[in-house]
Amino acid sequence: MYRMICRNYEELSRVGAHVMAEQVKRKPDSVLGLATGGTPVAMYAALSDMYRRGDLDFSRVTTFNLDEYYPIRKDNRQSYDFFMWDNLFSHVNISRENIHIPNGETKNPEAACAAYDEAVRAAGGLDLLLLGIGVNGHIGFNEPAPALTLATHVTELDASTIEANARFFAQKDEVPRHALTMGIGAIMGARRLLLLISGDNKAAVVKKLFSGAVSTETPASLLLLHPDLTIVLDEAAARLL
Ligand code: PGA
Repeated sequence: MYRMICRNYEELSRVGAHVMAEQVKRKPDSVLGLATGGTPVAMYAALSDMYRRGDLDFSRVTTFNLDEYYPIRKDNRQSYDFFMWDNLFSHVNISRENIHIPNGETKNPEAACAAYDEAVRAAGGLDLLLLGIGVNGHIGFNEPAPALTLATHVTELDASTIEANARFFAQKDEVPRHALTMGIGAIMGARRLLLLISGDNKAAVVKKLFSGAVSTETPASLLLLHPDLTIVLDEAAARLL
C-alpha cells in the first residue's frame, strides 16, 4: 500500500487527477472504475480541465461506475448517472457507448447486476478503480456486514449512509433505501485501486482503517489486502493517525 497525506482537499484532488491522467496517458484504452459523492468532484473538474487544455484524451476510455441508487430515474439530479454527466462526462470526449453505470431504472435489477459483472469481464477488467469511503467504512454501497457479496447486487443502505447522503436531498426521506453496487469481487479484481479520503468527518473511520485489522464490518479494510492500493488523504481525514 502506498499512502500519501496532502495538505487539503485541493491538493488531494490534484493528486487524484494526476494518478487517473497518468493511467490514461500510459494506456489510452484504459478501463476506469469511477466513484461519485462529494470527494471526487474537484478531481473530476481537474480532469475536465486537462481535457480542455488538450492534455488528456478520453476517446478510447471505458468507464464503470461503482454504484447507483435503486430505484432512481436517470434524470433525477441526485442519481449517480446525473452526477457523472454533470461532473465529468459532459465535459470530456468520452464515447457514450463506453460509459457504464448500474441502471437505477431497471425493472429486473438481478439481471442488470449479472449483466454488469459480465460487461466488466468482457471489457477485460478494471485497470484503475477510484474509490471513496463512507463514514461507516463502506466502499461503493458495500455496507458493513458479517459477510460481503462478491457480485454486483442490490443492497439496502445503512442508516448512517442515508444520514450522510441526506445532505444532497431536499429531505432525508427522499434518499432511496436501496442501491445497486459493484460487489467486493469486481472491486478487488481491479488491477489498481485509488482511495481518496477527505475531511474531518472521515477521521474516525480512517483511524479504524489503519488499526491493523481487516474486517467486513469495515469494508474498506479489505482493500488493504490488494497488491496495488494507493490511499490519498488530506490532513483533516488523517488527523487521528
Ligand atoms: P463522499 O462519499 O465522497 O460524499 O464522502 C464517499 C462514500 O460514501 O463512499
